[in-house]
Amino acid sequence: MQTVAVMNYKGGVGKTTLTANLGAIAASRGLRVLLIDLDPQTNLTFSFYSVDEWHGDISDERTIKQWYEGDMPGRDFPLTELILTPDPVNEAMGDTQGGLDIISSHLALIDIDLKLAALLGGSTTLEGSKRRFLELHGCLRRALRDEHFSEYDLVLIDCAPNFGLVTKTAIVASDHILVPAKADYLSTLGLDYLVENCVKLVGQYNEFVAFGGAGGHGTIEPVTLGAVFTMVQMYSQQVILSQQRYIDEVQVNSTVPVLKSTIRHSPRHFGSSGDGGVPAMLSAARTDDVVKEFDALADEVLGALGLIQGGAR
Ligand SMILES: Nc1ncnc2c1ncn2[C@@H]1O[C@H](COP(=O)(O)OP(=O)(O)O)[C@@H](O)[C@H]1O
Ligand SMILES: [Mg+2]
Repeated sequence: MQTVAVMNYKGGVGKTTLTANLGAIAASRGLRVLLIDLDPQTNLTFSFYSVDEWHGDISDERTIKQWYEGDMPGRDFPLTELILTPDPVNEAMGDTQGGLDIISSHLALIDIDLKLAALLGGSTTLEGSKRRFLELHGCLRRALRDEHFSEYDLVLIDCAPNFGLVTKTAIVASDHILVPAKADYLSTLGLDYLVENCVKLVGQYNEFVAFGGAGGHGTIEPVTLGAVFTMVQMYSQQVILSQQRYIDEVQVNSTVPVLKSTIRHSPRHFGSSGDGGVPAMLSAARTDDVVKEFDALADEVLGALGLIQGGAR
């Protein structure tokens, strides 16, 4: 199982669109995919369920908010109880060994960061503080170690556009970090800072583990897969010059690797908010340029994760 955190401090850069569509493509190629929605905006969840369905069956008991609540995330009930299988997308995949499940977010997840921060500060001894730090930051990592999750080939976590504790639990749980970004000044400016903060978090976590607070779950080493530029403007099949300059700038001056694949701006495909629970890249014509780009991105990402040799396609 490979776990990927999809993150960026900025909202509106295509994180959720990328998570939903990459997940759906991977599943349609025969992989068992789990999506985890960790953004209180709950957009990923609403890509697969209508608001009515969510209010009806999901919101009160079956979201990640209920899991993070309580004295310590995951102590009240196992994460596996939250797994949902959305029908329309799985039916749209037709005949494949793969499948797509999701763990729903909740609009009130926004309040959980504060509560977790209070828990983090709740110990009076240094030893106790370190243990708390590891317990809290490692909660999602530990939960995903449950044998049940070994059924999955790929877990994609759609993070909130911040670096709060919930996002940090996703980084600690992940083997890889994927950073969707727009090719503009402000978006590219934040990339190094984002990766620096991840490196700091990993350093601190591993330092505490080394001091004996491992709690049986070891050091972590998430790899930054890199930035994937989304919503790029094309002209004659080339990224327009003003945006290519920002992409080149990151390539040359940033420590963040840049993926070869880019995803074009295509309001025709992504303009409406989901098409009856089936991500656009599953239902659009295979000949559409953006579909080819998403396929190439899937090749690149799944290849880097070692998930597409052995006949998964
Ligand atoms: N390649 C694209 N072309 C056109 N619109 C897009 C594209 N990717 C995303 N969008 C739209 O841009 C908005 C923000 O995308 P979203 O994936 O929700 O970003 P984030 O999760 O980073 O906030 C949404 O309305 C989405 O439909
Ligand atoms: Mg989002």
